[in-house]
Amino acid sequence: MNTPLLQVEHLEVALAQTSRALLHDVSFSLAPHRCLGVIGESGSGKSLLCRALLWLLNTAFVCRGTMRFADDEPLGFHDAALRRYRGRDISLIPQHPMTAFDPLQPIGKQMVETLCAHLALRPREAKDKAIALLQQVRLENAAKRFDDYPAQLSGGMLQRVTIAIALGLSPLLLIADEPTSAVTQAEIVQLFAELRSRNAMTLLFVSHDLGAIQRLADRVMVMHQGRVVKPMRC
Ligand SMILES: Nc1ncnc2c1ncn2[C@@H]1O[C@H](COP(=O)(O)OP(=O)(O)O)[C@@H](O)[C@H]1O
Ligand SMILES: [Mg+2]
Repeated sequence: MNTPLLQVEHLEVALAQTSRALLHDVSFSLAPHRCLGVIGESGSGKSLLCRALLWLLNTAFVCRGTMRFADDEPLGFHDAALRRYRGRDISLIPQHPMTAFDPLQPIGKQMVETLCAHLALRPREAKDKAIALLQQVRLENAAKRFDDYPAQLSGGMLQRVTIAIALGLSPLLLIADEPTSAVTQAEIVQLFAELRSRNAMTLLFVSHDLGAIQRLADRVMVMHQGRVVKPMRC
């Protein structure tokens, strides 16, 4: 059997101030080149799970449990070493794309900075790649949009930009936290379906849309009130 690319054991997340538990004993594993769909009602803990995997929860939260990526040693969710996975190993498409950008910088500049920080590219090459990526996610007038500020783009357009950045890093594991807004859903699901058919990456795909999950996922993990109610191995 393949070594899992990601193995999460007994992840617990609680609020530091009140000790209120938000995620309870979440365990799952994800094999390379597979897609795990995560589904659950609003507030069931899907976004917390995504952010915990990338050490993106701040000191308002306390996390327990372990995570193992590829053949590395398991790390605790309190371990700042988790940070090293961000980017080329694990990329996140955040649920709320507005929060992913600095409102004072054009989106193209932010894309170039991210691509240069993670890939050995010169700024000119990174700009060409950024525009090609924006075309790949079918952002209209990609070259012109490059100099726009985040506030000049709709939520759906910003969602495409966050997807473009994540694709550009070609991560081993892509975490997509509800990457489909109402407007862009069908096209974005199609884009992920193409990625799946090329077997390009391992995917953790969060959605409340059963149709999207059915189309993309090999296995489904259902969350309810911070617990996995239907654990899956794939
Ligand atoms: N910063 C926070 N402070 C307090 N509670 C939070 C915070 N972030 C998330 N929560 C709580 O954690 C639970 C899970 O949230 P979340 O992971 O965003 O759910 P989902 O993505 O499934 O809609 C919810 O009950 C939410 O209220
Ligand atoms: Mg969410």
